[in-house]
Amino acid sequence: MYKKHIESPELQAGFEKILEGNKQWMKLVAEDTTGRYQQLAKGQSPEILWIGCADSRVPANQITNTLPGEVFVHRNIANMCVHSDMNMLSVLDYAVNVLKVKHVIVAGHYGCGGVAASLSRKQFGIIDNWLCHIKDVYRLHSEEIDAIQDEEKKVNRLVELNVAEQVSNLCSTSIIQNAWKERDDLAVHGVVIDIATGKIVDLDITFTNSEGLGKVLAFA
Ligand code: CO
Repeated sequence: MYKKHIESPELQAGFEKILEGNKQWMKLVAEDTTGRYQQLAKGQSPEILWIGCADSRVPANQITNTLPGEVFVHRNIANMCVHSDMNMLSVLDYAVNVLKVKHVIVAGHYGCGGVAASLSRKQFGIIDNWLCHIKDVYRLHSEEIDAIQDEEKKVNRLVELNVAEQVSNLCSTSIIQNAWKERDDLAVHGVVIDIATGKIVDLDITFTNSEGLGKVLAFA
C-alpha cells in the first residue's frame, strides 16, 4: 500500500477538512430511517443522466435538489458531447442501455469559463484543443455572436447555442437513435443554469425522437 505523505500542514488541513465534512454526511446517512442508503449500497436506478460543466459552482444534485442515487452524472469543461469522446459515449451507453434513464439533460451555465475562453484568441494550454469544439459552435453562429456588443452577453448567448449544439450531437449518436427505435420514454433536454439565482432555464429544445433532427443527422 502507498503511505500517506503530506509534508505541508496547510495541505494536510485541507484534506482533513474533507474528511471532517464526510463525518457530517455519515451522520445524516446514519440518521436516515428510510433504509435508502442500505438499498443504494446494493445498486442504482437513476432516471436522469446529467451532462454538465465541470465548474465547481454547478453540482448536479444540489441544483436539482436530488439525492444520491437519483442522477447519473458526467461532467467536463463546458458540458461538451463530442462525437468521438469515448468517456462521454461510455457514460451515455451505460445510462441509456443499462440504467434505462428517461431523461438526458445537457446543462450549461451562464458565465462558463470554457465558453468565454473559446471566444478569445489566447492560448491556454492543452485545453485549447478541447475549446476548438466550442469554437466550432461559434463558427456556426458567428454572425449572431459578433453582432452582440456586450462581452458577457456574447458568452451567455454562446453558452445557450453550445447547449443546443451538444443536444444535437447527443441525438445524432447511434446510442440515442437506437434507443428511440425501441422506446418512447427517452427525452434529451437542453438547459442553462443561472448561478446567481440557482435557476435552471429550460431552452425548450427537448427531443423524444429523431424527428426534427434533419435528414443527415437522423439515421435511416
Ligand atoms: Co463552465
